[in-house]
Amino acid sequence: MSILTGKKILLGVSGSIAAYKAADLASKLTQADARVDVILTGAAKHFVSPLTFQSLTGRKAYTDADLWRSEAHVLHVGLGHSADLLVIAPCTANTLAKLAHGQSNDLLSITALAAQCPVMVAPAMDVGMYEHPATQENVRILRERGIYVAGPAEGRMASGLVGRGRMLEPAELLGHIRVVLGRATGALAGRKVVVTAGGTQEAIDPVRFITNRSSGRQGYAVAQAALDAGADVTLISTPTALAYPVGANVISVRSAQEMLEAVLQESAGADALIMAAAVADFRPRNVAGNKLKKRDGIPQIQLEAAPDILASVASLNSGASRPQFVIGFAAESRDLLANAAEKMASKKLDMIVANDISATDAGFDVAQNRVTLLTPDGNVEKLSLRSKFAVAEAIIVKLVGLWE
Ligand code: CTP
Repeated sequence: MSILTGKKILLGVSGSIAAYKAADLASKLTQADARVDVILTGAAKHFVSPLTFQSLTGRKAYTDADLWRSEAHVLHVGLGHSADLLVIAPCTANTLAKLAHGQSNDLLSITALAAQCPVMVAPAMDVGMYEHPATQENVRILRERGIYVAGPAEGRMASGLVGRGRMLEPAELLGHIRVVLGRATGALAGRKVVVTAGGTQEAIDPVRFITNRSSGRQGYAVAQAALDAGADVTLISTPTALAYPVGANVISVRSAQEMLEAVLQESAGADALIMAAAVADFRPRNVAGNKLKKRDGIPQIQLEAAPDILASVASLNSGASRPQFVIGFAAESRDLLANAAEKMASKKLDMIVANDISATDAGFDVAQNRVTLLTPDGNVEKLSLRSKFAVAEAIIVKLVGLWE
């Protein structure tokens, strides 16, 4: 399950060489269990055929020829009315211009004018065309009208020129589609959620640090689930091997101290703070200014307490500076529920996600997790082993419940 499951996506493809990437996007959406209807403009058909899309989506791909068939008078209205989202990718300068000025002389532009759903466009054109004042003005008009403009990116174009005008890659477009769908229908639309992820790095010298086994996966999954629910998400992350969730405002930090500062800054006035990061409890008391050399012998590293971020947040007065809801994680290897409940009380949390790290099939560094969600009213919800994304979705559902 994801926000794409069962969603009706209308994919408009206009005439750019990037049309071949639209086939990949149609495939990715279909694999995510969305229902994808495709409309190709006349120019798009020169680059890629309707059959390509039909084969990938298992559904008819429409062209202008369908405008003149017996059901034509209801087709564009039907497509535009039943969709959850109209995505035009690639969107050429010509299609942008038509959308901006309400022109409707082919199936795609008529459908766009009749559409009742949110609209997202992914511009793709040569750099000069994108930078042209006419195109810039059209983009501005569309944005002002609430149309979501994804990209374009900088890079090398088919023409050999380098600049802004490349269509975003399908994986990135998929992330933007999730953002638009989330904002349109999500339970957290309009809410600001701050998520921390990864294991902090506590420096010993300029090249060495102490860290832990956290991969960041659970925190990134929470950020994605919050985006799917429509939230404005700030992700405060240590370096990880993971791709940033599209649409999140990402702040990179390393140490517990840096994370503390970012959390205090970002969570002031936020609706929720979810501390999924594995923050160091101890850090080297002295950080060597230069690399420690072997020839100087084995160093003695003295540790001191690192700042406890949740405790600092708990000590803030409720009101403008404290997030409305604070959720913590408890990584425990014994007495899971008792220790988690104790942590929830001492850190004044609104929910704690208790994580049994003694199990080998769940927790640190693996794709799945088995957690129990506890709230201060004594409610205990034990979740079966599931993907970290499914755990994240359950956390977000429970967070939404806190407002009810
Ligand atoms: N946490 C924090 N600052 C720290 C350590 C942990 O904000 N310096 C947060 C974690 O992000 C997590 C929660 O506190 O949400 C619990 O972390 P955990 O390591 O399980 O607990 P500790 O407070 O370190 O307690 P203990 O040493 O008893 O396990």
